[in-house]
Amino acid sequence: MWPVVHVGSIIECVADVIVNAANKSLLGGGGVDGVIHRAAGPGLKEECRAFGGCETGDAVITGAHDLPFLNIIHTVGPIWRGGGNDEPELLANAYRNSLKLAAEHGLKRIVFPAISTGVYGFPKDEAAVIAIRESHHFLKAMGAGWKITLCAFPAKEAKPLNKALKLAQARDL
Ligand code: AR6
Repeated sequence: MWPVVHVGSIIECVADVIVNAANKSLLGGGGVDGVIHRAAGPGLKEECRAFGGCETGDAVITGAHDLPFLNIIHTVGPIWRGGGNDEPELLANAYRNSLKLAAEHGLKRIVFPAISTGVYGFPKDEAAVIAIRESHHFLKAMGAGWKITLCAFPAKEAKPLNKALKLAQARDL
């Protein structure tokens, strides 16, 4: 019923689907987006181009191309602009819409990076609380057989996730 925190690069995980922290163009960039696009090969960019972009908080699904997953979900987290611009709700939407797509496609082992906490500057502790809460709600609703992994990379990124996980488990949201 709880997500698992895993340290390592997302492309090394074993999963049915990984989630990409993309930008609104969906055409690749730096951070985890760059890692995923480089490993998946140029076909991914071509498939992404057909969507014509993606709004903040939304998600789209593609094939995994050269990566060993069934699919890749691309979501766009919010850019942190001080917290008064719906950033928490938009980040929650990014998780929820990604999980909705995974459910619709029967993709039961899902791995997320810490969306928005790199280039987009979302405070890591607050983002971790949202990631844990949304994962927990989904797992509770879906029942047995579903697994959400929250991928921390580099290793120090696991600290906010583990802290939020412990707190949530203690309170059982
Ligand atoms: N595996 C897992 N997590 C990773 C990896 C990896 N290989 N590499 C980095 N991270 P970011 P954002 C972590 O910046 O903040 C791109 O240019 C990283 O340490 O990738 O949502 C896009 O095109 C951090 O914890 O995504 C957008 O323009 C987390 O992934 C923009 O950055 C997210 O950092 C999106 O920014």
